[in-house]
Amino acid sequence: MKIARFSRIGFIMAAAGSAVGLGNIWKFPYIAGEYGGGAFVLVYLLTVLLIGFSIMIAEMLIGYLGRMDTVSSFEELAPVNKHLWKFGGFQSLAGLFIMIFYSVVIGWIFNYIITSLTYLPATPKEAEIVFNSMLHTDFITQFFYHTVAFIWITYVLNKGLKGGIERMNFYLMPALMIILAGMFAYATTLGAFSQAVAFMFAPDWSKITSEAFVTAVGHAFFTLSLGMGAIMTYSASLEKDANLVKNAFWVVFLDTTIAIVAGLMLFTFLYQYGSGPAKGPGLVFISLPAAFYEMGIVGNVFAILFFVALAFAGLTSSVSLVEPMVQYFIDRFSWSRLRASLSMGLFFWFFGIFAILSNIDGAKEYLTWGGKSFFDWVDYVTAAIMLPLGGLIMAVFVGFIIPKSKVESVMKSQLKWAFEPWYFSLRYITPIAMFVVMLSLMGVL
Ligand code: PHE
Repeated sequence: MKIARFSRIGFIMAAAGSAVGLGNIWKFPYIAGEYGGGAFVLVYLLTVLLIGFSIMIAEMLIGYLGRMDTVSSFEELAPVNKHLWKFGGFQSLAGLFIMIFYSVVIGWIFNYIITSLTYLPATPKEAEIVFNSMLHTDFITQFFYHTVAFIWITYVLNKGLKGGIERMNFYLMPALMIILAGMFAYATTLGAFSQAVAFMFAPDWSKITSEAFVTAVGHAFFTLSLGMGAIMTYSASLEKDANLVKNAFWVVFLDTTIAIVAGLMLFTFLYQYGSGPAKGPGLVFISLPAAFYEMGIVGNVFAILFFVALAFAGLTSSVSLVEPMVQYFIDRFSWSRLRASLSMGLFFWFFGIFAILSNIDGAKEYLTWGGKSFFDWVDYVTAAIMLPLGGLIMAVFVGFIIPKSKVESVMKSQLKWAFEPWYFSLRYITPIAMFVVMLSLMGVL
């Protein structure tokens, strides 16, 4: 049973801290670049609005009504077949799996903060060599910073919901927003800003393949932290009279705004000083440092601030990725918080080592199957299968399993006329959309 409760603003900060992560600043710009901008961004925005927002409310509702860890909440709320429905709560395992590569990427960011203090690559070519030599040959550096990330995250989790999670978000989220706002303001003064706007908002439908479509939908899930129990677990600590719709609105609004601001800023810098919207996961680690170099001394300051902001975004998401399983072991097995945080931390730390090795020359041959490294597999299986499946289960659970009267008793007064459309979309639109996305991502369609 939970005793700790978020403060009103504390919840919004923590949930937005979960949503705003590497997905917004590292992943979104590079996949938007890969799929040609405009049309992709539009599909992503529509998905966020039409599906993401309604699932966000549903996920909050399960946590809010259940008041416990994800597994117990499903079990508690299912009127029949409790033993079956409790498996719905194991969607929170996805968070631990995501952490396997998420922590490694945060490690790269730590490394870039430190190296940016003294060095920026002069050309994109040089930047590529630097990044690739870290990725493919430097096990020690990656291992070291991955371990630093593990210690930081485990430490905060052990401090608990209020003293750890709420507190860290309370400082890091405003700091992150200030840094991004400052850099964005600078970007708007540059000539290339209008090019960046055109790239992100002028839809070129010929670039929208079915794969781009599905990636946009999958990303909407990932970036809103849906389908793995993070929002659900946080919502179990909401105040009794909380307004879920307002909370969901703020989380979706902040997450989307920050993705767009970060995207516009990065593309402006890349058009003005760099090589344009470069493709691939190396965007912020390769193209961007070279663009910062071109900016002179401002670039040095920006490079450090940017990677600091990115680290903050990653850390506030990380705690939300692990907390659901921590809560599970505390609630169901009466583990101490220390024992639960440390065990979950050690889990992702241990497998993270293999994620690093799966990119290292000489070791990667043993950790690659079907053309994908272990690192890529974890990313793929979580985003392509686990999160959409989690979303599907929640939509069906709230739409069909929890008695409508119970759902109504909380949501009717908050959603008003929008209650029926929301309920309809949970029952019919979302499950079908999620199912299609899942099949396509798995390559079946
Ligand atoms: N939303 C986070 C991001 O954009 C990732 C995340 C996914 C966090 C799922 C929690 C749960 O980086």
